[in-house]
Amino acid sequence: MTVICVLEGGGGQSIDTSISVTLPPMAIYPIRTFPDPVLAMHASDVTDFGDPLRKLADDMLETMYDAPGVGLAAPQIGISKRFFVADIGEGPFVMANPEIVETHGKWKYEEGCLSVPGRYWMIKRSDYVRAVGRDLEGNTVEFEGDELMGRLLQHEIDHLHGTLLLAHLSSRVRNQALKELREDPLGVRRVP
Ligand code: NI
Repeated sequence: MTVICVLEGGGGQSIDTSISVTLPPMAIYPIRTFPDPVLAMHASDVTDFGDPLRKLADDMLETMYDAPGVGLAAPQIGISKRFFVADIGEGPFVMANPEIVETHGKWKYEEGCLSVPGRYWMIKRSDYVRAVGRDLEGNTVEFEGDELMGRLLQHEIDHLHGTLLLAHLSSRVRNQALKELREDPLGVRRVP
């Protein structure tokens, strides 16, 4: 079964943290992994739309497909901006400055994250989610869906608030997870 942000990644190298047009085409970024502090930061609003954001989106999609994953938030490549890219199998889409405006129902699903590689947990979240944000040009856009789409929107928007899926575990499961992550940060002993 597909999961959010399928495993892989690693890295943590220092990279350019500005949204710039100086990067080469099709750049694949190293993916930041827990406990990189950028993953715990509240990201700031995207204010520069157009070409620089388009370039970032292209590079992030390339990085996401390479990982491979179904979603990638800017903080995961060290850019603390409220922006994510995603593709749950229906084509790529992006959102800048997204906000969840409606939820209903609950859905339990096995979830992973490129920034916590090699680990999956059953996590209960809202089923249906509607989110409003901006596209690459700064126009208002809206995405909605249940099951995987609802899950993806919540997971990626969490990243922009500095929240990882670990925050959704019970304290007992989280403590065990943190212990395992200290001993085996990249999950190499867990990956078949
Ligand atoms: Ni993630």
